[in-house]
Amino acid sequence: MKTFIRAKDLGNFQEALQEAFEVKKNRFGYQHLGKNKTLLIVFFNSSLRTRLSTQKAGMNLGMNTIVLDINQGAWKLETERGVVMDGDKTEHILEAIPVMGNYCDLIGVRSFAQFENKAYDYQETILQQFIQYSGRPVFSMESATAHPLQAFADLITIEEYRKKPHPKVVMSWAPHPKALPQAVPNSFADFMNEADVEFVITHPKGYELAPEFVRNAHIEYDQMKAFEGADFVYAKNWAAYQDPNYGKIICTDRSWTVSSRQMAVTNNAYFMHCLPVRRNMIVTDEVIESPQSLVIPEAANREISAEVVIKRMLESL
Ligand code: CP
Repeated sequence: MKTFIRAKDLGNFQEALQEAFEVKKNRFGYQHLGKNKTLLIVFFNSSLRTRLSTQKAGMNLGMNTIVLDINQGAWKLETERGVVMDGDKTEHILEAIPVMGNYCDLIGVRSFAQFENKAYDYQETILQQFIQYSGRPVFSMESATAHPLQAFADLITIEEYRKKPHPKVVMSWAPHPKALPQAVPNSFADFMNEADVEFVITHPKGYELAPEFVRNAHIEYDQMKAFEGADFVYAKNWAAYQDPNYGKIICTDRSWTVSSRQMAVTNNAYFMHCLPVRRNMIVTDEVIESPQSLVIPEAANREISAEVVIKRMLESL
C-alpha cells in the first residue's frame, strides 16, 4: 500500500477485517517490519485520538515515530505556488515536504479543509503534494475530504458488534456551533457503501454530501423515519457541501440532536461518533452514556486501523 485516502485503497474488506482482528490479537507481533524504520506524522490541525493512536500503532510495529506540529515550532509554510513570499510565511511546502521525506520511511498527514476554495479542498491539494514530493508512502490522518483511518476503525467496530449479517446503519447529521469539514461523513459513506450493510444517510435539506462519496446510499430527509429499525446510528455534524453554501452552517435545528426520542424507534441501535463530540448538541448525555454507546471501543479501534495501514505500507517498502 503506497497511499491511504479512500476505501478502495484497502482492497478486499473481508481480508482487511481479518487482518485487523489478527493485529488486534497480536499487536506486537510484527515488530520486525518496523525495525530501524521511522514514521513521521505531520499535523496542520489539532488532534487527540489520531495523534495518540497512530503513534501507538507505529510503536507497536517497532518503529521510531516523529510527531511534527506544523503550527507549533515549525516554520510557517506557504502552500500556494507562484506566491511572492514577502509575508509571514518563511518556508515553501515544496521544499519542506521533500526535506521531511529525507528523515522518514512513511508519512501521515492531517490537513483539514480550509473552506476558502472548494476545488482546492476537494483536490486534496496539500495531501497530494505530500504524495508527489515526499518520495514516501503517505496516509491521510484526516485530510480535506477524507478520514479513512476513522472510517476503517468504524468498519471494524460495526463488524465486532453487529448481531446480524446485513445490519441497518444510519448516518445522521446533527447540529454544531462551528462549521466542520465533510471528511468524516465522506469517508464513513465511502466505507459503508462498500460494506455489507443497509446504509441510510439523514440530514436537513441543503446538507447533501459530494456525490462521489454518497454514490447509491439512500437519503432520507425525515430523521425519525431514517432511524426506524436502525442497528447502528452514526452521528456527525458537517458544514454544507453544495454551492453557494460550501463550508457554511445552514441549519441550527436542535431537534436533530440524537436523543432517546430518536433511539426509541431503532432496533436498540448502537450509538457511534468519531469524537470529539459536543454533548447535548450532537448527542444527549443519556445516549452517549448508555450501554449502547460505542464511542470508546470505536476510538480504541483507531490503534488497530492505523496499525493495519502502517503494516501494509511497511510491507510495500
Ligand atoms: N476522531 C478523531 O480523528 O479524533 P482527533 O481529531 O482527536 O484525532
